[in-house]
Amino acid sequence: EKGGHEYFMLKEIEEQPEALANTLRGHFSEGRIILDEQRLADQDLREIDKVFVVACGSAYHSGLVAKYAIEHWCRLPVEVELASEFRYRDPVLDRDTLVVAVSQSGETADTLEAVRHAREQKARVLAVCNTNGAQIPRESDAVLYTHAGPEIGVASTKAFLAQIAANYLVGLALAGARGTKYPDEVAREFRELEAMPEAVNRVLDTSNAVRELARNVADSKAVLFLGRHVGYPVALEGALKLKELAYMHAEGFAAGELKHGPIALIEEGLPVVVVMPSSKGRATLHSKLLSNIREIQARGAQTIVIAQEGDETVRPFADHLIEVPAVSTLLQPLVSTVPLQVFAAEIAKARGYDVDKPRNLAKSVTVE
Ligand code: M6R
Repeated sequence: EKGGHEYFMLKEIEEQPEALANTLRGHFSEGRIILDEQRLADQDLREIDKVFVVACGSAYHSGLVAKYAIEHWCRLPVEVELASEFRYRDPVLDRDTLVVAVSQSGETADTLEAVRHAREQKARVLAVCNTNGAQIPRESDAVLYTHAGPEIGVASTKAFLAQIAANYLVGLALAGARGTKYPDEVAREFRELEAMPEAVNRVLDTSNAVRELARNVADSKAVLFLGRHVGYPVALEGALKLKELAYMHAEGFAAGELKHGPIALIEEGLPVVVVMPSSKGRATLHSKLLSNIREIQARGAQTIVIAQEGDETVRPFADHLIEVPAVSTLLQPLVSTVPLQVFAAEIAKARGYDVDKPRNLAKSVTVE
């Protein structure tokens, strides 16, 4: 059942194009995004004036990505909260608040309690979930299922990519209902999403080079990950994968924070992964990250750069370059996360660890 793979996780990484395609399928018709269960009227969605995304772990990172898309498409303020913090700090919620609860299992205790708290305060709750009929979707006003299929590996891979795609659908559904996007614009964004399974396939084609690189740095004490804009949650996700699978000290930072502290960590030979934004869509951020890479390379770090195909400017500063297909800015996490999953899994294997069942971790965390 591992399809010729040594671990489920490796199979699940390969299944990502299919997971994305299945998650998108059937959710678009005549300029509108269709949710799976909708116990909210369009009128309710039009009245929403604030969005919270609540989730844990990788699902939380998918929420951080969603913030960029929903704010941009819907012109609504979005806060992304760790579910374990949310209800302990008296968040301001009312019937015009939409709480998006993202959970692969649909059973994560903290996320479920956040949903209950939100509903007590009369907020509307929309669940993004990979498990049919789980508790979180059962207690929500609307549901969008990710169709990643069962995820066995404790480290989330295909469910994470599917969550990002589903969160984009939530953003487009809101934008359509609220009129911040016309049906033809929603259609255009949806078509772009539909091209992503093929883009991820192309990233997977480069996995051998990533594996070789991973084996070369498997003995490092630590790895840092830097990104900006949607590349920042990708950096956090890359670090989380490495922590949970390879038991390595790994930190993700917003690259703009480098001079505010993290640069002190840079030392000779330290691998630093940098997630580059597009040189076209985000020229200013791109040049800022370029100078960050220059700085850390000058201090002896080993730079591993994930950049869009055709971005020649990074070459001189990348000790290792991982190229991913050029896609529009908001969709970049769908391609740039994939090499980081392969990277973490290969380091864990090189260190002799069980990639599917990392120590101390459970697939679903049903206690708070
Ligand atoms: O089932 P959920 O999506 O609610 O789970 C949330 C986290 O426990 C989960 O993403 C966890 O962080 C993964 N092990 C990450 O790979």
